[in-house]
Amino acid sequence: MSTEAIAHRQKEAEMTQRPDEWLLEQGLEPDKLGLRNQSDIKINLSSPQTADANETELKLRPGAEEDDPSFVVKEERKGWHGYVEWEDYPEKKAKAHKRFQRFKFPPPPEFQLGPLPPTNPVLEGVRWKLWHKAIGGALENVPEESWDIVVEEKHPGMLHLLQFPYNGEAPKGLLIKDPITPNELHFVRNHGGIPTIEPEAFDLRIDGLVNDPKRLTLADLQNEALFPRMEKLVTLQCSGTRRFEQIQEFAGEGDEMINAPWAEGAISTAKWVGVSLKKVIKYCGGLKDGAKHLEFYGADSYFKGGELMNYVVSVPWSKVKANEVMLAWEMNGKPLPRIHGAPLRAVVMGYIGARSVKWLYRVKATPTPSRAPVQSREYLYFQQQYGKHNQLPWLGIQIQEMPVSSAIMSPWQKEVVVHNGAIEVEGWAYSGGGRWPERVEVSADGGRVWYQVPLENFSKKHKFTWRTWKMKVPIDHEGWTELVCRCWDNSLNTQPMEVRQSWNWGLHITSSCHRIKIYSVNANREATRKRLQEFEDHQESFLPITRPTEFKTMSMQEYEKMWATMEPRDVDD
Ligand code: MTE
Repeated sequence: MSTEAIAHRQKEAEMTQRPDEWLLEQGLEPDKLGLRNQSDIKINLSSPQTADANETELKLRPGAEEDDPSFVVKEERKGWHGYVEWEDYPEKKAKAHKRFQRFKFPPPPEFQLGPLPPTNPVLEGVRWKLWHKAIGGALENVPEESWDIVVEEKHPGMLHLLQFPYNGEAPKGLLIKDPITPNELHFVRNHGGIPTIEPEAFDLRIDGLVNDPKRLTLADLQNEALFPRMEKLVTLQCSGTRRFEQIQEFAGEGDEMINAPWAEGAISTAKWVGVSLKKVIKYCGGLKDGAKHLEFYGADSYFKGGELMNYVVSVPWSKVKANEVMLAWEMNGKPLPRIHGAPLRAVVMGYIGARSVKWLYRVKATPTPSRAPVQSREYLYFQQQYGKHNQLPWLGIQIQEMPVSSAIMSPWQKEVVVHNGAIEVEGWAYSGGGRWPERVEVSADGGRVWYQVPLENFSKKHKFTWRTWKMKVPIDHEGWTELVCRCWDNSLNTQPMEVRQSWNWGLHITSSCHRIKIYSVNANREATRKRLQEFEDHQESFLPITRPTEFKTMSMQEYEKMWATMEPRDVDD
């Protein structure tokens, strides 16, 4: 080809090919991919009417309506800082919504199709912070104040998935060090800021379909002449636990708070002290006819679709009647930390953590499950073929009891493990609804051959807690392999084999077997042992495992010597 022809071809390639074309073709930058529209419908791809994605300042929407300067969000109770009542005041909600509409907010960061930032906090929650600034008044400084509480009350080693509203989990090594999680390592899942309520100023309102509505102070609840004390070890688990595995398989609903990219740590166990809600309802004269559910109100403010509300969910009366709902003020022998709901929270045993309402200030008996968004629109488990555009809230199962699940906490994903024919594996196992782990199995070959965790290697069995476990799994082979664990609970339920089998657009309930890829180096093998020694003798780093090694596994002389004793590679006759 002539030089002109080559230059022409190069020019043509420049014109038709983006420099990152290959990355796009191979799906390595899915956040930058365009749309392949094979329908006859025109699809709008213009960016939404929001501020720039990197915007951190509050900006007015062009042509925004006049504000009502007399509308100031106030705290209405002395000793209750960061608490704004929304549910009693529909007008206040409407005004807040109007104020909200005046501003434009940046879109949520793309953390599923794009890479996760290598920072801690991983995500900042810029939009959530700006929402608080936009409403102002009593909510204005809540993001900063809440972060101060995180720093004060949580372990410095916490993995902060989201700075505000705070979502954080303990690192793997610390999470299962003790089957009872120390308070500072217990995971935190917040939907809003952290209110600070003085115990002396606190009371709990019990109303709705109860015969004798009351307000009870903390002293009333703690009066053992009125209510017997209850103490229970309970595991709380968020339905987002291990969500990261689902995200890695396929991206789903993309809001930074709703779908925080949790690893295996959105689960923890504590000893809670309080009273049974059943006794409290009885003290209020019992329920009226038609009451079937109890709605719990949290004092924090939650933003959902431009609306403001308190955190509200419900549990059925049958759960309360079974003495499985506690109103707790103590956590692991200490007063409830502010970040975990002081002065009073619900602890709903065997249910998804979302029902264990923190900063609980009201219990209302109702005929139906709560219509509040957290109950009716979030924490829903949809069938896999319901996607973003066809999932209607009533089609999802409201997640209550968590399914059986387990996780490997050590070794870690993609680690090189040098061992003597058996790998030490550690993890946790849990089942919701008052079921407990009876058996855990680990496979070192991706799930064909399973080894049972010896019963003596489990933490103690309780009706409402996880169990931590460890075992040595025999492994002879070398190279990449997959460690897998699965749990069988006391009802003989077990876990689906693959993430895909439990994958859903909302990215809840990653109940599939936990899979960890490791590179196995078996020092029990003569040749491998020799090789390991050579790395030591040459003072050469063993890692990264993919790096070509200067010294060979066999010299040319040794190679010739082998062939001299063997049949030739090819035969003529
Ligand atoms: N209660 C209130 N008031 N506000 C919240 O955001 N989050 C819920 C639940 N109770 C929440 C709440 C969710 S989703 C979970 S998983 C648990 O609290 C987590 O409890 P923890 O933060 O004490 O671990």
